[in-house]
Amino acid sequence: MKPYIIANWKMNPEKMVEAKKLFSFIKKGLGNSRKARVIICPPFVYLSELEKIFASDNKNYCLKFGAQNVFWEKKGSYTGEISPGMLKAINVKYVIIGHSERRRYFQETDEMINKKIKSALSNKLKPILCIGETKKERERGETRSVLKRQLSIALSRVPFSKTNPPLIAYEPIWAIGSEGSPCDTKEAENIALFVRKTISKIYNKEIGEKTAIFYGGSVNSNNYKQYLSGKLLNGLLIGRASLNADDFIKIAKLE
Ligand code: PGA
Repeated sequence: MKPYIIANWKMNPEKMVEAKKLFSFIKKGLGNSRKARVIICPPFVYLSELEKIFASDNKNYCLKFGAQNVFWEKKGSYTGEISPGMLKAINVKYVIIGHSERRRYFQETDEMINKKIKSALSNKLKPILCIGETKKERERGETRSVLKRQLSIALSRVPFSKTNPPLIAYEPIWAIGSEGSPCDTKEAENIALFVRKTISKIYNKEIGEKTAIFYGGSVNSNNYKQYLSGKLLNGLLIGRASLNADDFIKIAKLE
């Protein structure tokens, strides 16, 4: 499977001109490279403008847009929310759901995440489900039980199939952020095996095998290769390093 390289810009950069500049650099730097499936997830308000830059020529076939969040209803009185249909309309293909920062600062529960995934799927968006344990949970030896709970609630009655299998990002919360220490590769790979097994149990072996599993947490241009070399991880979700065009291009071109 071609690795997924996903940029999560979070609430960055501060200004539209900077976002356009960053995106233009990335687009140019990537050129026609097709080594990875590159997904850029900027803040909502930048998406349309960046899409225009993207559409101004037709070279970067490997690049797609993702959003960082979505609401589950189609329309109505939900102040501040964005529907899957609104994202589809501006050529967004992917959406990150259940990022730990959404769980932590906006009290997103596994049940809410489940609704978001269902809604995204039924609107033909590809959800990227984030899961991960806190430092405390890890120290208490609860990593696997936490991940199992997150997966089983988030995926409950979600109609993934072998042609449209889940995309799961393992992002241990203790490893996220520039100051965080990245997860050891072996540990991330062991978790990937565990996630695949859990998905196989929730669905079936075939869907388990087809599921794409990513690692995220302090990935940068120096350490990214180690996560991809074992082939147990199918991609990377990158925060801070995705805001540096040179670093991100290096990673996305697998250089
Ligand atoms: P980081 O963020 O690469 O800055 O650690 C990853 C993420 O939170 O998705």
